[in-house]
Amino acid sequence: MTRILIVGHKGQLGRALFNTSTEHELLGMDLPEYDITDAASTQYALRDMRPQIVINTAAYTNVDGAEAEPDLAYRINAHAAGYLARFCEELGASLWHISTNEVFDGTRSGQPYDEWDLPDNTHGSTYARSKLAGENVVRFYHSRARIMRISWLFAPGGVNFPAKIVAAADRHGALRVVDDEFGVPTYAPDLARAIFQLIDMKAPPGVYHLVNGEAASRYEFAKEALRLTGRDHIPITPISHTEWQRPAQPPLRAVLANRAAAALGVTLRPWQEALADWADAFRGQ
Ligand SMILES: NC(=O)c1ccc[n+]([C@@H]2O[C@H](COP(=O)([O-])OP(=O)(O)OC[C@H]3O[C@@H](n4cnc5c(N)ncnc54)[C@H](OP(=O)(O)O)[C@@H]3O)[C@@H](O)[C@H]2O)c1
Repeated sequence: MTRILIVGHKGQLGRALFNTSTEHELLGMDLPEYDITDAASTQYALRDMRPQIVINTAAYTNVDGAEAEPDLAYRINAHAAGYLARFCEELGASLWHISTNEVFDGTRSGQPYDEWDLPDNTHGSTYARSKLAGENVVRFYHSRARIMRISWLFAPGGVNFPAKIVAAADRHGALRVVDDEFGVPTYAPDLARAIFQLIDMKAPPGVYHLVNGEAASRYEFAKEALRLTGRDHIPITPISHTEWQRPAQPPLRAVLANRAAAALGVTLRPWQEALADWADAFRGQ
């Protein structure tokens, strides 16, 4: 049995990790009890808890909000990730850090990004740049870090794309959804199981892309969410990203391929199957 600390355990992925059946002892760290941007109290808490593994799911995840609060986004996504990496190194714990597809600029078409592709999103959103800074600082301070990149996370009960689509459909009775932004949806319960599989097999340090299968456009993802929740009568119009103004422009084709974990036998099912489970949970709410 391993003592595993889940940082951000009240969030979408943190909850999924806690709800996944495992032999391990799980501990949690989240606001308001713990603030990982406070280096001294985080160091104290880690020394007290003495985890063998730390999974960092905590982040400033409001992509548009980060444009108005860049300092806070960097404090959480980069500086605090660095504190965790440093203190894990000190304690001999290993850090499993969650990152994003947005570290890639998404300008490559036709081919997904592998783990060995060099991330670069110099001109991306504040969120994207703060997460890339987080990856770099984690690697700098921690020799055995696992960096797990994911995209378009959704979970039962969370604030996420399919939940927002269904709410908007009920509110407006018709939708316009971007059809030229592509990513791979990632279902938090499937991701949580994959992370524990990697932990149990002592997967080596490095980068892992963990996503549910193949790419979709926002439009395809939305259409399937409406169909699976019995709303396929709601009209949905495909539009270009240029018609959907928002403070942060996400990369248009930051599509991740899972090669590293797949080579170890860890894969996630197609997102359509995962979304069907999400829709079942949604109907039961
Ligand atoms: N959501 C996506 O579509 C997506 C896509 C790609 C990558 N990711 C990455 O996946 C990871 C998990 O995302 P998620 O959607 O599960 O996030 P989430 O639901 O926003 O959960 C993050 C948790 O971290 C907590 N937190 C934030 N700042 C903190 C601080 N200073 N100290 C302690 N805890 C803090 C949050 O608390 P509050 O809620 O009180 O702020 C929240 O409970 C993140 O690294 C994110 O960047 C997410």
